[in-house]
Amino acid sequence: MRTIIAKDYEELSAKAAKVMLDVVKENPYAVLGLATGTTPLGLYAHMIADHEKHGTSYAHIRTVNLDEYKGLPKTHPQSYAYFMRKNLFDGLDIDPENTNIENGMAENETKECARYDALLEQLPRDIQLLGLGSNGHIAFNEPGTPFGSGTHVVTLAESTVKDNARLFDDISEVPRKAFTMGIRQIMQAKKILILASGANKADAVYKMVKGEVTEAVPASVLQLHPDCILIADQEAASKL
Ligand code: GLP
Repeated sequence: MRTIIAKDYEELSAKAAKVMLDVVKENPYAVLGLATGTTPLGLYAHMIADHEKHGTSYAHIRTVNLDEYKGLPKTHPQSYAYFMRKNLFDGLDIDPENTNIENGMAENETKECARYDALLEQLPRDIQLLGLGSNGHIAFNEPGTPFGSGTHVVTLAESTVKDNARLFDDISEVPRKAFTMGIRQIMQAKKILILASGANKADAVYKMVKGEVTEAVPASVLQLHPDCILIADQEAASKL
């Protein structure tokens, strides 16, 4: 894993934008694996600013997202589908038809997971963006998830429900289940870019980079990827 330490969140976002935009500019037909959470917001703002200023086009770009809460329709302000529209897609010239995410309202979980598995096979990703859970999760693959997993439905760890409660009016509103891309599929991306910001990620960053590769720390699997870049700010990298 190549580790880049940025002095602060702004520098982290600018460096992440450079990595992402290199992929988009090199291949206007690229497939981007995208992530939600607060960490990629600065990167997404840079992508929109670059599109407005330099006209970088997303007309032929296709995207697949990592995960979605179960039980939230895509119109729900806390759904990840809504998050992506509001924080990225609406600011680009991307065709909404070319953006993909699990359907949180799918009645048949097994069928929805199979649909997403098939889609991921058809859309090999040029780059996969990831955030990092404070417990070492990637997407919603919580500690203990087998490295060989495909798309599945998870029950969120209590620590994840607590972490994500800040984005809801009340912790009782945080969905307890979610669809997530599996670890096997994350590892299939040609390049991986993982971002970590803030002191509450320092333990997870340390275990991901320096710890043993173990299913107890899902992000540690990234040590085995041939082209993975970690960009962490100083606070998140403080234990390295
Ligand atoms: C959430 C998401 C992850 C995200 C992580 C970190 O639970 N499912 O994909 O990377 O938590 O979020 P944040 O960037 O807000 O710290």
